[in-house]
Amino acid sequence: MTDAKKLFVKTYGCQMNVYDSERMAEAMGAKGYVTTDTVEEADMVLLNTCHIREKASEKLYSDLGRLRGLKAGKPGMIVGVAGCVAQAEGDEILRRSPVVDLVVGPQAYHRLPAMVEAGGRQVDTDFPAEDKFTLLPDRKSLRGPSAFLTVQEGCDKFCAFCVVPYTRGAEVSRPVDRLLGEARALVAQGVREITLLGQNVNAYHGAAPAGQGGTWGLARLIRELATIEGLARLRYTTSHPNDMEDDLIAAHGDLPQLMPYLHLPVQSGSDRILKAMNRKHDAQSYLRLIERIRAARPDILLSSDFIVGFPGETDADFQATLQLIEAVGFGAAFSFKYSARPGTPAAEKPPVPADVADARLQELQALVTRQQRAAQEAMVGREVTVLYEKPGRLPGQMVGKSDHLHAVHVADPQGRIGQLVPVRVTASSTNSLAAVPVTAPA
Ligand code: 5AD
Ligand code: SF4
Repeated sequence: MTDAKKLFVKTYGCQMNVYDSERMAEAMGAKGYVTTDTVEEADMVLLNTCHIREKASEKLYSDLGRLRGLKAGKPGMIVGVAGCVAQAEGDEILRRSPVVDLVVGPQAYHRLPAMVEAGGRQVDTDFPAEDKFTLLPDRKSLRGPSAFLTVQEGCDKFCAFCVVPYTRGAEVSRPVDRLLGEARALVAQGVREITLLGQNVNAYHGAAPAGQGGTWGLARLIRELATIEGLARLRYTTSHPNDMEDDLIAAHGDLPQLMPYLHLPVQSGSDRILKAMNRKHDAQSYLRLIERIRAARPDILLSSDFIVGFPGETDADFQATLQLIEAVGFGAAFSFKYSARPGTPAAEKPPVPADVADARLQELQALVTRQQRAAQEAMVGREVTVLYEKPGRLPGQMVGKSDHLHAVHVADPQGRIGQLVPVRVTASSTNSLAAVPVTAPA
């Protein structure tokens, strides 16, 4: 197809944005666009933005600045801005950046093809009544054997630091039968692992299939997905501690397809700060929850997000966070220096001095790095299963994720993408494990 137009997509931020980018690419695919990794050859450039971190809009404008030259030499090129910065800034983006043609929010992106067709400069940051997922084309362009599936969007929790409830809107769960359909279609195309996504994925409560009750929670959905033949692995992210219900914890114990890795952000170990963050749980309740999860699935690896330097955080508060980390022992963690997000309640409060927050971030990261290394090193000598996602950089090498979500390099010249292979871990390096296939005894 020589006349196919080319679409270049850049995704910032979380896995939900990765999913949205794929769906937007599919939507444009239905209009004859194919994706490209080379921005210079693109007929359309789409920047799918994230608003959670500081400097999100600065990053966007500097990328847009770089596109100016490209567009000057290619007048027909379309530039679109999607995602949460698009939602938050809307018209302002068109005003500040003449290079931009289209601005589309996370709830309106099914309208992108129509916007392109209509031409001209447009902004759509609606929260439309229609469900965008029912209007998007079926899933087809795939990256490999591991896929994302958005089951829930938005958030009603209103943590005092977070923009998500404003940019993504209220919690909406997708109906069960649509998710089962999308999952089956993915599996039919060779997908073996699905990660269920949502800003508060474990608050999922989607409409049940006809005749099967009102709504299903996440555990029930996962149990049903686990019956799909060929779907070997299930994961979900991101969860809130207050929505870890009994049946979900139980599913970790009794569903082999549910992988032993859980991202369960706690943000802080200080009850005073947790209260100021509007988290509605305390450190003790989090620790008790971890105990119950580990009782169901003893080898589970846990990860969390942490914010240091939240307004009002004292040294004692920070020490409480370090103590919580020591008490849990995380397999991975993501830590951030607090940054004031305009429009959120915490943004009104006086900040912790930057040098204090920097020092705390470094100390916390050193501790979680030690824990992460220890968790990786504990895998050496063990047998794990790896889902091959792509060839490695060395000849005869395959790369994939273990059950515990460790990146693993396997020396396996016979290996093929999409295989689930039992391997023995031989070494641990900074961010990955090395392994060899476990050969069946002669
Ligand atoms: N400042 C710093 N970190 C933040 N996060 C969300 N909002 C902010 C903010 N204003 C972090 C939280 C969340 C993760 C996705 O990003 O830790 O869990
Ligand atoms: Fe943001 Fe809190 Fe909702 Fe997570 S639970 S998306 S941190 S408001």
